[in-house]
Amino acid sequence: MSRDAPLFRRVAIIGLGLIGGSFAAALRERGLAGTLVAGSRSARTLEQGLAMGLIDEGSQDLALAVRGADLVLLSTPVSAMERSLAALAPGLSERAIVTDGGSVKGSVIAAARRTLGDHFSRFVPGHPIAGKETSGVAAADAGLYQDHRVILTPLAQTDPAATRAVRELWTALGSEVLEMTPEHHDRVLAETSHLPHLLAFSLVDTLARQGDSTEIFRYAAGGFRDFTRIASSDPVMWHDIFQENRQAVLDALALFRDGIDGFRDAIAAGDSDALMGIMTRANTARAHFLALNARTSYTQARHSDNESSMSDQHDPTFVVQPGGRLRGRARVPGDKSISHRSIMLGALADGITEVEGFLEGEDALATLQAFRDMGVVIEGPHNGKVTVHGVGLHGLKEPGKPLYMGNSGTSMRLLTGLLAGQAFDVTLTGDASLSKRPMERVAKPLREMGASIQTDDGGRPPVRIRGGQTLKGFHYDLPMASAQVKSALLLAGLYAQGETSVTEPAPTRDHTERMLAGFGYPVRSEGPLRAVTGGGVLRACHLEVPADISSSAFLLVGASIAADSDVLLPHVGINPTRTGVIDILRLMGADITLENQRDSGGEPVADLRVRSASLKGIEIPAELVPLAIDEFPAIFVAAACAEGDTVLHGAEELRVKESDRIQVMADGLSALGVDLEVFEDGIRITGGVLGGAEVESHDDHRIAMSFAIAGLRATAPITIRHCATVATSFPGFADLMRSLGLGLEVQ
Ligand code: S3P
Repeated sequence: MSRDAPLFRRVAIIGLGLIGGSFAAALRERGLAGTLVAGSRSARTLEQGLAMGLIDEGSQDLALAVRGADLVLLSTPVSAMERSLAALAPGLSERAIVTDGGSVKGSVIAAARRTLGDHFSRFVPGHPIAGKETSGVAAADAGLYQDHRVILTPLAQTDPAATRAVRELWTALGSEVLEMTPEHHDRVLAETSHLPHLLAFSLVDTLARQGDSTEIFRYAAGGFRDFTRIASSDPVMWHDIFQENRQAVLDALALFRDGIDGFRDAIAAGDSDALMGIMTRANTARAHFLALNARTSYTQARHSDNESSMSDQHDPTFVVQPGGRLRGRARVPGDKSISHRSIMLGALADGITEVEGFLEGEDALATLQAFRDMGVVIEGPHNGKVTVHGVGLHGLKEPGKPLYMGNSGTSMRLLTGLLAGQAFDVTLTGDASLSKRPMERVAKPLREMGASIQTDDGGRPPVRIRGGQTLKGFHYDLPMASAQVKSALLLAGLYAQGETSVTEPAPTRDHTERMLAGFGYPVRSEGPLRAVTGGGVLRACHLEVPADISSSAFLLVGASIAADSDVLLPHVGINPTRTGVIDILRLMGADITLENQRDSGGEPVADLRVRSASLKGIEIPAELVPLAIDEFPAIFVAAACAEGDTVLHGAEELRVKESDRIQVMADGLSALGVDLEVFEDGIRITGGVLGGAEVESHDDHRIAMSFAIAGLRATAPITIRHCATVATSFPGFADLMRSLGLGLEVQ
């Protein structure tokens, strides 16, 4: 892959080891440099570079080597940089840009400042985060920087044009370029690179100095090999790094010492909760940082331990081929609402709660992580199984940082209630979509109970909760039908003096009430009123989470609209506060049967069978709206495939979900050629023929999945942008849909 014009006419590389040699090889392969020159004290290295075809010229005189160069890369060991800079400085031409590849920035910058004089403004400190255990020019690798990160640490006086040019070069080599201050770089690298190398060297050395080290190494298995692999790195280079980044390395070591002492104490004391806490936190933290590194989702990282296989999986696009049918049996992932609550109540209970069928989706995992951050030991999820070591109603600990709720409105609103009565302060944050959603609907009534809660401009996240407040039970008439507001108040009520009661204008999902009862906590029900009295106890229990009817909705609609479809969905939750979608689709003429109805841990479940049917438009009954609130995007697709008009009113809540679901669905359906009319509180959709188009999910999982099933009735492919959030509620959606017959491709 070479380009027409080189970025630099003449590039000088000082120090032709692995870093410099790979840089030369990569420049050459991509045609980015006119002439490549190396400067090295070692004649042998220069000969090797020439023989390998990496460079055109070489010189042992560094000032000569840089003469006429428009870019100079310094890649000698960091301890030798000052000497090299002093030697090359006299040869620099006025416009030459100097950059380096050193792993420590503070000391290299100090050396450059001392040696470069006026030329210092053309020095762009850099650090490619790449390497191998083998060193020297012989190991040069043209692909070393591809898909790796390069950190630049320009200073206030660094010429921005020089920084831009260096950035452009690394980008052209396939690297991702980041910028930070030198101090930040040195601290971060001390913790993430220098410390692990130090530990690897130290462990091998410690064991090797034991009496019979051959004995130890003969039996050393994978763990030892994996942990100490990096102790094969170049000792001279690491010697330099530990010296040059002395203070940051010592600070990182002190941090680690505290951690290892805690570990030691837990073993010594036989404190198994503390031990499990350390390891389960580490487990998830590792999955989390792998995900961040791969710029992919939390779920994908957990399901793959292979970093490289994830790198192409960030925000995917769905492309759905038109037509097809759905046939087969599909176990849909666990219910999101119930999964959230299983962690919350399990954490606050006395004893160990086992959860099965837990939704391993991003939203529920955000709740799980929040409780880990508050000191709760949670094992799993492994195959939907989670074990929560309850800490009791007053056992949560202050998290050391804001709790990140990701995309999950349920996590944020329910936790606002649950945390309002704690002894500690806590801040709740979320992603871009969640950060736009209204939080005053829970904050306001909680303040009436005595909570101290601050929201940001316009009542949006972050939500800041001050601990140590005394909550008083009260009665609240919900102004809108919202299970989240109802649940937040009931959860706060567990901590309040006296009774906390709510009435809602229309029934909403009652999982909180059912689960509280399942944990042995009395809930008083009287007509539309639900009440709890503070000061009780939750007792651990066993929970089975049914398949999510909201996720099943995509299959109910998909199999209804696609001719010749027949799908069986086992063990779906059919709590009457959630079955609006079945009622609405049946009113439209859908063929859905409920088989094998039973009770599963306090929640009704059934196997749902759905076959193709010709649908007709209806006026959606107002009382069904709160019972189908999450399923409207899918129902809109059914309406677009039905004969005649479907009209929805009384659903203004849809405008404040993960996206404005009325407008976003209207935009996408219009793009597919559907005739519709948007109202403030709903929509009219006239069924007809769906064309193909490119539509935008607006990072809303249910929008993405709705347009995916629309493909079953489209006449041309539908492309859906930004589908990463599908993993919030329906991990494995694409594979499952494909297995049933949808022509869905993930790009
Ligand atoms: C949920 C309640 C609903 C629903 C959300 C989950 C819950 O929100 O839309 O996806 O688990 O309590 P509202 O209560 O705001 O309607």
